[in-house]
Amino acid sequence: MTIRLFVLNGPNLNLLGTREPDIYGATGLAEIEAQLADKASEIDTSVSFRQTNQEGTLVDWLHQAREEADVVILNAAAYTHTSVALRDAIAAIGVPVIEVHLSNTHAREPFRHKSLIAPVVAGQIAGFGAMSYHLAFDAAVALASRRS
Ligand code: DQA
Repeated sequence: MTIRLFVLNGPNLNLLGTREPDIYGATGLAEIEAQLADKASEIDTSVSFRQTNQEGTLVDWLHQAREEADVVILNAAAYTHTSVALRDAIAAIGVPVIEVHLSNTHAREPFRHKSLIAPVVAGQIAGFGAMSYHLAFDAAVALASRRS
């Protein structure tokens, strides 16, 4: 059975590659997307890769995942630390969500240490740059395979 994966990215991640590269690395989002699409083509997995700067759009996509995805990878970016709406959406949908960060948020400013979504996600991967997405992809496939 094909695994249906959503990879959702929040605010400012469209600037990846040029945005604070010392923190987030030099790899752009399109390149990460191409790498994951490559991996997905080797196994029976369909990936929908999206980015938005709008909090409500992330909520809408999580609701959509309820019907259309088996597992979600989410880099909620700054909304990780602020959004009760995202936390509630994740809790509502009953689809496992893997929280991803490029940087090690716990080694940065104190306001990044708290993730409002952490209690309702399947797990967190942070601090490995673009590789965080690859690790999350492997975890997502393993999780979805276990559940099917
Ligand atoms: C981030 C970490 C967040 O604290 C920050 O607001 C981001 C990116 C990361 O991937 O390291 O925009 O989610």
